[in-house]
Amino acid sequence: MSLEAVRYRRGSLHILNQRLLPERSVYQEIPGVEAAWRAIREMQVRGAPAIAIVGCLSLAVELDRREEGAAKDDLVTFALESLAYLVTSRPTAVNMARAAQDLSDFVSHEAERPDSTAESFKESLIVRCEAMLEKDIRDNKSIGDHGAKHIISRANTDKVIILTHCNTGSLATAGYGTALGVIRSLWAMGRLEHVYCTETRPYNQGARLTAYELVHDKIPATLIADSMVSMAMKEKRISAVVVGADRVVANGDTANKIGTYQVAIAALHHRIPFYVAAPSSSCDLTLDSGEQIVIEERPGKELTDFNGTRVAAPGIGVWNPAFDITPHSLITAGIITEFGVHDPRKLQKALADKMQTGT
Ligand code: MRU
Repeated sequence: MSLEAVRYRRGSLHILNQRLLPERSVYQEIPGVEAAWRAIREMQVRGAPAIAIVGCLSLAVELDRREEGAAKDDLVTFALESLAYLVTSRPTAVNMARAAQDLSDFVSHEAERPDSTAESFKESLIVRCEAMLEKDIRDNKSIGDHGAKHIISRANTDKVIILTHCNTGSLATAGYGTALGVIRSLWAMGRLEHVYCTETRPYNQGARLTAYELVHDKIPATLIADSMVSMAMKEKRISAVVVGADRVVANGDTANKIGTYQVAIAALHHRIPFYVAAPSSSCDLTLDSGEQIVIEERPGKELTDFNGTRVAAPGIGVWNPAFDITPHSLITAGIITEFGVHDPRKLQKALADKMQTGT
């Protein structure tokens, strides 16, 4: 059975509360936009694609529950305000912002159409939100396929050893995953020897979530602390590093989970190919460089406490940026999207047409 971060059917949305994993698997109901905003902010659901999917489906659920007879103008206002609000839940991942922009354009267009009624407007918007689920899984499988083939074509061994950071799997997406999707594809092709996954401090997405997914799929894997990355690269025959992205900008600079930057520096030193795997919905060609990306800072408690128990000395100051920027120069092997594997410096050209024609 595959892991599901999101369970949706018309009018009903549940998320697997990722704060409780791996001890407990609890699906909690998301009855509408406000509940989704809180679940995203509190990281009960996280990962750039999953954030956008849950945000948009929460709007679909709330629209579906609106009583018949609501005026079209009221539905339009509600949809536009909800989308603008959802974007404020977490600032770094671009997927929610891009989905909100796309849906807001659609809403504005539908609002102007004299032949669309309140009911047909509601139906068409819900269908558009629902389409995100299937598209994300389809894109992830393409990413997995492109990435796996590229890694194999450059490897000088029959089976490869991959290092990854944070969680980019079924739990962070509609299913399959991005960087973890590449790992799943390598495993399915019989070309994966082993995976090293980092603990990913301070929130432990690697130890709690990626380790959970790898064990679930029976993929041979070993957990390491973030501080062991260079040592692992020196000692463990790592073939390639594959990580995800929260936002890839026009020049190829990439925001991803804090610690990615130092993994990329270590990979360059050890001449290990470094890949970023992300759907084009995580790409933001409106920004020129990584310096323009807003980095979310999380509560200090995530760093000072462990499982609800304080471990840091009382009185110490805390800095807790949730993401860092890996400059394109360190993404040595390429950026893997659903369209192929791109040289980071040519990403803008490669994606410009495709992103204009819609996702
Ligand atoms: O803070 P998180 O857990 O939402 O951060 C997640 C990451 O950084 C992932 O690598 C990224 O969102 C890609 S998930 C497919």
